[in-house]
Amino acid sequence: MTRPVNLILLGPPGAGKGTQARMLEERFGLVQLSTGDLLRGAVAAATPAGLAAKAVMEAGELVSDEIVLAVLKERLAQPDVGKGVILDGFPRTEAQAEALDALMDETGGKIDCVISLEVEDDAMVARVSGRYTCAGCGEGYHDEFKQPATAGVCDQCQSTEFSRRADDNAETVRTRLEAYHTQTAPLISYYRGRGTLVGVPAMADIDQIAKDLGKVVSGLMRG
Ligand code: AP5
Repeated sequence: MTRPVNLILLGPPGAGKGTQARMLEERFGLVQLSTGDLLRGAVAAATPAGLAAKAVMEAGELVSDEIVLAVLKERLAQPDVGKGVILDGFPRTEAQAEALDALMDETGGKIDCVISLEVEDDAMVARVSGRYTCAGCGEGYHDEFKQPATAGVCDQCQSTEFSRRADDNAETVRTRLEAYHTQTAPLISYYRGRGTLVGVPAMADIDQIAKDLGKVVSGLMRG
């Protein structure tokens, strides 16, 4: 007997939050909720939130809590979240963590586990700078660490169109790392204090980390 679980993946840019969230989604039927993806969707659709967020994201800084909470709440109102969610890139400030606590109280939900992906900053610039994504299905790849089985063809949907993010350059990654350390890393103590934090070493290869995370999530689902 298994039950749906709600997870947070914490970690700096390039830690593998998106890569691992997609793998967990596929393996366990959980729903990946990436505030970065939601905001990029708003930018592409030129909504008022997207127009306000665009320049901030391109500079590698954090979008205001107000905008992020608005896009997240809209997504959380959709019925598929009942399958359990993986919050990828949220919360990123203490105010967001408190807002999430309040939201969980209101809806009777709970965050079962906060997984902190433990990495070394120096490797993150190379990971992020080499990243590209399938334009068809969003599957993530890397010039060096994760290439499609057939060059130029997505493994998942066979699309031949790929894109790179506007904020994936070495200079912006450094600003994003700084934002992580000053505004997001304090959440590690916040969640440790609540007894929900699990640290997972994340400098190994992608499949090894997926196995380690899989053990954590299987344990939670069995209750
Ligand atoms: P967001 O989209 O969340 O980006 P991020 O946190 O900077 O994280 P990344 O997507 O860069 O990294 P990741 O950990 O997902 O790594 P990935 O798996 O892709 O946010 C973007 C912007 O939106 C923010 O800067 C901010 O402006 C705004 N924003 C979003 N949420 C917000 C919030 N809550 N509040 C305020 N503002 C917000 O992996 C990276 C690459 O490395 C890939 O190519 C992958 O193939 C490769 N890789 C992954 N794992 C490994 C491994 N183990 N070994 C080798 N390579 C690996």
